Amino acid sequence: MKILVTGGLGFIGSHTVVELQNKGFEVVIIDDCSNSNEDVLDGIERITGIRPLFVKLDLKERDKVEEFFKDYSDVEGVIHFAASKAVGESVEKPLLYYENNIGTLVYILKELSRKNNASFIFSSSCTVYGQADKMPITENAPVKEAESPYGNTKQMGEEIIRDTCKVTPNLNAIALRYFNPMGAHPSAEIGELPIGVPQNLVPFITQTGVGLREELSVFGDDYPTPDGTCIRDYIYVVDLAKAHVVALERLLEGKNKENYEVFNVGTGKGSSVLEVIKSFEKVSGKKLNYKIVGRRPGDITEAYADTTKANEVLGWKSQYSLDEAMKSAWVWEQKIRS
Ligand code: WQD
Repeated sequence: MKILVTGGLGFIGSHTVVELQNKGFEVVIIDDCSNSNEDVLDGIERITGIRPLFVKLDLKERDKVEEFFKDYSDVEGVIHFAASKAVGESVEKPLLYYENNIGTLVYILKELSRKNNASFIFSSSCTVYGQADKMPITENAPVKEAESPYGNTKQMGEEIIRDTCKVTPNLNAIALRYFNPMGAHPSAEIGELPIGVPQNLVPFITQTGVGLREELSVFGDDYPTPDGTCIRDYIYVVDLAKAHVVALERLLEGKNKENYEVFNVGTGKGSSVLEVIKSFEKVSGKKLNYKIVGRRPGDITEAYADTTKANEVLGWKSQYSLDEAMKSAWVWEQKIRS
């Protein structure tokens, strides 16, 4: 069974490729390498012993996408990670985000709609909820006005898939709304490779720990939370990768109740920025250099998942703790800087 993973050289994509191969799937990766590099293939091969097929391709090139699906007509499922994902950049370059994140999704859905049976997993995000009114957040929480073009592309992506599935009974899709992915594979052969100054908290922490950054700026400690810093649901990337395989198998085995379903993928536990820092200090044995600064525009106070639906309907539950995930992030950071 051949599965296409777009963006398969990226952080979550590469970890998902490993879990797919562990379950016996044959994987072909499409990646344009705009935010990743080909030697991730070596890391995947060192872990599983199987080098995935790889096609370097820009999914914005419609004719190339058509050609791919002709050449790989035996692809039965697609896990679609390929997208631009920097919130700040999306505000400055909205059209780049709409073209890259929406245009490519449409091209892939057009190809899948032609097949007599296709399974599609979409990489969505808890960003669609904005600042939800109630914690933990369920899948029925209202989708709020997006705070950025990036978040809007996730909301629009879900709507495009929903509308397509309504008129395409042979297309079965699941959108996974990730909370905050973190960590690296326990082998330290693959992990997060942020290009430039990391936007996200955990890579900034580990880069500070390894001496690449002077100190971490904590964006605000005056939020209405127990310790004043923002709360998020940090999910270990290997747990997240496994959720994709479980979701894909649900569709391939015809266990889905409707041909478009949505699941939150988180741990169900919220952690504040200061708690994440404490986790790093505990697993590394190092004091982290940080200072409290002003709030970052666009940040929400709190977001953590209600994971009941994923646990009971999808049959998936996160297995790893914040400390275990942080340990893997720290081991990875030290390895790539050694
Ligand atoms: C987490 C917390 C910051 C950096 C983003 C995207 C989301 C998803 C995950 C793609 C916040 C604080 C951060 C720093 C800090 N990405 N922080 N100092 O913003 O929850 O989610 O990444 O799907 O769509 O929005 O993650 O890691 O940037 O921030 O204090 O140097 O850490 O204020 O409270 P976020 P994050």
